[in-house]
Amino acid sequence: MDSTSQPFGEEQNHLGEKLFPILKICQKINSERDLAALLDLIANEATKLMEADRASLFLLDRERGELWSKVALGSKEIRFDARLGIAGAVALTGQTINVEDAHQDPRFYKEIDLRTGYRTQSLLAIPLRNHEGEIIGTFEVLNKKTGAFGKEDEEILKALAAQAAIAIETAQHVEEMRRHRDQLQEENAQLWKEVEGRFSTQSIIGSSERIHAILRLIDQISNSSVNVLITGESGTGKELAAKAIHYKSLRARKPFVALNCAALPESLVESELFGIERGVATGVERRLGKFEAANGGTLFLDEIGDLSLTAQAKLLRVLQERVVEHVGGRKPIPVDVRTLSATNKNLETEIQKGTFRQDLYYRLKVIHIQMPPLREIQEDIPGLANYLLANYCREMKKEAMNLAPQAASACMNYPWPGNVRELENEMKRLVLSVSGSTIAKEDLSEAMRRSGTEVAPSLSTPRFLKDVVSEIEKRMIQEALQQSKQNQLHAAKALGLSRHGLIKKMKRYNIRFRDS
Ligand SMILES: Nc1ncnc2c1ncn2[C@@H]1O[C@H](COP(=O)(O)OP(=O)(O)OP(=O)(O)O)[C@@H](O)[C@H]1O
Ligand SMILES: [Mg+2]
Repeated sequence: MDSTSQPFGEEQNHLGEKLFPILKICQKINSERDLAALLDLIANEATKLMEADRASLFLLDRERGELWSKVALGSKEIRFDARLGIAGAVALTGQTINVEDAHQDPRFYKEIDLRTGYRTQSLLAIPLRNHEGEIIGTFEVLNKKTGAFGKEDEEILKALAAQAAIAIETAQHVEEMRRHRDQLQEENAQLWKEVEGRFSTQSIIGSSERIHAILRLIDQISNSSVNVLITGESGTGKELAAKAIHYKSLRARKPFVALNCAALPESLVESELFGIERGVATGVERRLGKFEAANGGTLFLDEIGDLSLTAQAKLLRVLQERVVEHVGGRKPIPVDVRTLSATNKNLETEIQKGTFRQDLYYRLKVIHIQMPPLREIQEDIPGLANYLLANYCREMKKEAMNLAPQAASACMNYPWPGNVRELENEMKRLVLSVSGSTIAKEDLSEAMRRSGTEVAPSLSTPRFLKDVVSEIEKRMIQEALQQSKQNQLHAAKALGLSRHGLIKKMKRYNIRFRDS
């Protein structure tokens, strides 16, 4: 027997009697946000209210065209084709179906009774609709204790279903948001791992004592927030070291904000560093300064040696007082910022010239890290070059490449005025231009190929004589070893030294015996 909603007269009183329990149930279901618990709750309450033996809620999975039920009191999750059974017919047509004996109805899907071992007799099924009127599932009550379900039961179940559908949809949204949040949290944790890996000390390549000492120092200061000054020639990895310090520190999950002091015009220094209040007259928008942006984290002041004296005075004040004031504002804003500064200038010379404040220098340089130029960590050149080659090959999806021993030794002899950045550019060029997997000396740029035979150190800047002599000596030894194919006796002879004398000098200059 199918039935659609019809007006009802004397039964209205009975429905009135049921209104209070329905309201109580609504209160309960509106405070349950967990979908499985909510479905359980609705089914339990409906069973009692309808004097039925069981209640089931089937939700429509539109993507898979299936109906599924987490609770079919006493049984586990069930899934089936949404076109099947009385539940399917209700979900598809939106009709109410009320039958006295389900097994006599051709639409009844006997499989479920078989699976659950339950015997369905009377059955009342109505659609669950969301607030937009869309069908989201089917609500069934089974085996009314006093026989068959009547018109009044239909109306009661509809009233309950209207509330249940809203609660179910809300719980589904909450569940989806939770899933989304968990996924984001997982992604976030993954990304942090990647960031920390990429910028940690692992990204600083080198096994020379100079590099090891830097890595040890970064480790030692990882628990503190002392200011660090990083000096070194262009391209020696000052910024790389600054990031490693930040991502190793307790501030790693807070911002790392970089400011290039050289690119900062005098007129913008204050607003860039300290922020600006909205200017009513000028129409300027309110903007945070770098100090506030880095609050809790690290401010990296790059090219600090290029900061004007006026700006230095302002910076010093913030470092002393730990508060900033927006340009055009009068409220001091407390900031907790660690500063890392970098420069390729010699700040002590700048102090003598009167272009850098000594008091600021001491504030910034609680710890000093001097990045060595590549020519002073010659033994790290092949390792660095191969590491960079591997990176670019991976990036450009090329098979792995290596430097032939002669190419590696030419690289070691080249003075690399642009340091690691120049080495990076050369390796990038080689990955693009060389087709085999081995890079020969002939593949290198002209300057590097020549470097094995060139012994002229730069005399353009004033240097101590002993440094120049050492440099010449070192290069001559390397060249002699190369020409003698690493035969120390021949090399010593060519240089007019004893073998013992050569070994002593090789030790002094950290020249290692290599196959070539
Ligand atoms: N020891 C190292 N291991 C791996 N990569 C390095 C190393 N040193 C520098 N690099 C790489 O060389 C490039 C230049 O480094 P970085 O920008 O840190 O140098 P810099 O000293 O800040 O240069 P500049 O003075 O020109 O600003 C970067 O791509 C960096 O990753
Ligand atoms: Mg830099």
